[in-house]
Amino acid sequence: MLECDFLIIGSGGGGLFSALHLAPYGKTIILSKKDPNETATSYAQGGIAAVLSKDDSYKSHIEDTLKLGCGICREDVVRVIVESGPEIIRDLENLGVIFDRDEDGYHLSIEGGHSNRRVAHIRDQTGRVFQDVLYHNAVNTDAKIITNALAVDLIVDEDEGQRTCYGAVVLTPDGTIEDIRAKITILATGGAGKVYLVTSNPDISTGDGLAMAYRAGAKIINMEFVQFHPTCLYLPGARPAHERTFLITEAARGEGAILTTIDGDRFMPAYDHLAELAPRDVVSKAIYDVLSKTGDDYVLLDMRPIRGVSLKRRFPYIYENCLKWGYDITMEPIPVIPAAHYICGGVETNLNGRTSIERLYAVGEVAYTGMHGANRLASNSLLETFVMAKRASQDAIKLSKKVKNSNKTRVHIPTSKIPTQEKIVISHEWNSIRRVMTSYASMMRSDHRLNLADKYLALIGDILKVDYKKYAPSLDLVETFNLHHVACLIVKSALMRKESRGLHYNVDYPQQDDENFRKETVITSYEEE
Ligand code: FAD
Ligand code: SIN
Repeated sequence: MLECDFLIIGSGGGGLFSALHLAPYGKTIILSKKDPNETATSYAQGGIAAVLSKDDSYKSHIEDTLKLGCGICREDVVRVIVESGPEIIRDLENLGVIFDRDEDGYHLSIEGGHSNRRVAHIRDQTGRVFQDVLYHNAVNTDAKIITNALAVDLIVDEDEGQRTCYGAVVLTPDGTIEDIRAKITILATGGAGKVYLVTSNPDISTGDGLAMAYRAGAKIINMEFVQFHPTCLYLPGARPAHERTFLITEAARGEGAILTTIDGDRFMPAYDHLAELAPRDVVSKAIYDVLSKTGDDYVLLDMRPIRGVSLKRRFPYIYENCLKWGYDITMEPIPVIPAAHYICGGVETNLNGRTSIERLYAVGEVAYTGMHGANRLASNSLLETFVMAKRASQDAIKLSKKVKNSNKTRVHIPTSKIPTQEKIVISHEWNSIRRVMTSYASMMRSDHRLNLADKYLALIGDILKVDYKKYAPSLDLVETFNLHHVACLIVKSALMRKESRGLHYNVDYPQQDDENFRKETVITSYEEE
């Protein structure tokens, strides 16, 4: 058993930024289930939204965020996060991040849904630079980073109706199960894009934190709102499979790239007056519609109309990666499709990052703060992640001084090894969950499809539950079990919302119904499916 003051589960932007604040105040352990730099943060391209130009204002950034959130953002949260933007940019600069600049100051991009240029970036590798800088700073603190360490479950106890978290049960790199006891536990496990077949997310994005918090009885909000990014490079046969997830940043359309059918017909102006710069749900739905009509597998993104900037200098990462797959973006359009990108819902927190479970915090994509409501404005995620990691850490430092470590009993974890012939069943269930979600609970929903998803998931759950209760945790088993939880949360939440709003579109209720549904979808207790 290990003991610490602060246990941070996750080594992306949320986890590392928290660690930098916490490490001077107590023993800090950071867990990463794979390579510590294999995170969604590393793949962020577009940048971080913040009010940095004299032509911009907090009011405008707040209004854009609220508009996209379709009436269900928490306005106080949006205000605090937006107004913290410039401070966070300075914090990142103090750590060593150097943003792109031009003669007027920061070079700011524009992305869908923003009414001003406000996305600070480092070419098209903003996340890579953030991750490297944060990691470099974190290894120079006293925080201990344990890689290939999988948090399996939270250690939670209930006293007079109040649940408290005392750390986590962890599958260690040498294959043993350990308790890591902590005064404060911070979930920074990221998103869950792997719940769909086509996603921009890396393999680590399996919703582990969401599932662990759900099992522990935390309040989960708005899981029906899944954002699909319109432009992922279409690479159906790519090997290894995780290479299929290559994103083409929205900033490309911000600079002037256009979308066409395979025959070269530009289609976005017919769908929205903002054309290619419409919010990403509008662009993704338009692509879906075009593909349903043409029967094609992809549309084309043409970056050649971009004027005034060198494609190779502004988008070097995209240029190199596309070239690797045989596409020269300076000479030809590239095939793209929408891909699951971001989960707007998550584990509910207040403005100090506290969840409904005592001593458990959540930051980053795993959290639901109320910032995004029914749809997330581009580049608002990294902003929310860093602002909330800082706020949560400041609160956690104070709380840690008032509480003690505990050795309360935790859930029983089986020890018998899964038989080899059973392993293939887990991998089939992994594929089945993602197929079911893609077929029945994707961008276009109906009650019929969602009910089918619910039934299939119940069946898969019956099979998985048996294995999960019987066999010692392994990465595949735990991730598949967690992915199943996330899928169930998305489908259940989608079935509860009998309207269409933001990212949730149900053909049976095509209108927004403010009278009955201008509210969050809340799931409070874990039901054994
Ligand atoms: P992550 O960075 O994903 O880190 C998660 C960490 O948790 C990893 O270290 C992982 O190993 C660890 N982990 C997970 N489960 C466990 C477990 N059970 N045990 C131990 N460790 C675990 N947002 C923007 O604002 N601007 C952008 O330009 C932008 N571009 C994006 C581009 C791409 C391709 C993607 C995928 C996302 C993009 N986003 C962008 C969204 C944004 O990057 C993410 O929401 C944000 O980085 C999430 O950070 P995080 O710290 O919450 O999670
Ligand atoms: C992108 O660069 O298009 C992604 C931005 C985001 O997800 O906020």
